[in-house]
Amino acid sequence: MADAQTLGALLAWARERLAKAGICEAALDARLLVEHVTQTTRLDAVSRPERPITDAERALAEQVVEQRIAGKPVHRIIGHREFYGLNLKLSRETLEPRPDTETLVDLVLEEARRLGGEDRPWRILDLGTGTGAIALALLSVLPAAHAVGADISADALATARANADMNGYGARFETRLSDWFERVDGRFDFIVSNPPYIREDDWRDLAIEVRGHDPRRALVAGEDGLDAYRRLADECADHLAVGGTVAVEIGHDQREIVTGLFTEQGFRFKKLGRDLAGHDRVLIFSLETARERG
Ligand SMILES: C[S@@+](CC[C@H](N)C(=O)[O-])C[C@H]1O[C@@H](n2cnc3c(N)ncnc32)[C@H](O)[C@@H]1O
Repeated sequence: MADAQTLGALLAWARERLAKAGICEAALDARLLVEHVTQTTRLDAVSRPERPITDAERALAEQVVEQRIAGKPVHRIIGHREFYGLNLKLSRETLEPRPDTETLVDLVLEEARRLGGEDRPWRILDLGTGTGAIALALLSVLPAAHAVGADISADALATARANADMNGYGARFETRLSDWFERVDGRFDFIVSNPPYIREDDWRDLAIEVRGHDPRRALVAGEDGLDAYRRLADECADHLAVGGTVAVEIGHDQREIVTGLFTEQGFRFKKLGRDLAGHDRVLIFSLETARERG
């Protein structure tokens, strides 16, 4: 039981309780949970460690620390997470955006600079937008760009819309309820996607933090994990502008097979991006001439 009377003492208690339970990021998680419960900032912990704690705050702190120990990810508990410097709300059907996906954003920005500069009115399609993470990160750097975020989940799209408004990009962001391209019109300079890419059989081996809290539909893509890439490779050309770029996140062992799916459809492989751990994570393709709709 926490008997902490001050902010500093509550933080120390949470840190110790999480560390003793074997939570590897105990100090970070304790800080995020205590800040959430007390509505304080990192600065408060340093400048006002003597701030008194109410009974309600103490009770809530105990509750969220126990949830974390039971395997609930810290950002699911606090309901939001930072991605590319943006604060993004999470909901039941959204994947928690991962730092590895920032690699995709960096590579797309590199291409945008190379192809004409940050100020161009780029048209971006983010397929499987979830929280809107990729689209909104791109809009945060490309001031004249417009993005469409498509997803099969209405819950995810409501969250993406809220995130766009909350971060000040609402006027340049549109949502579309769509099974991949089914309800998407027009052509885009960039088609970006972090689609589901886990094999059916690998789902049950995932950590409880993932399996118990991220939506299955956001992660699993058929027996071989390639269902979504097949759809994207088959249909991307019909929605890409001349000289357009496709950027997809991949599983660490999918580089060759996914490259094959796109090159078979006439795409040219341009670049490979590696994540923070050095794993293959992003593929960039281009199409020199737009394909006419048949
Ligand atoms: C791996 S998550 C990526 C979410 C977000 N883009 C990110 O990077 O954090 C995949 C997303 O694809 C969506 N999705 C799954 N099947 C889909 C489909 N058939 N059509 C459109 N979106 C789909 C899921 O709802 C989920 O939001």
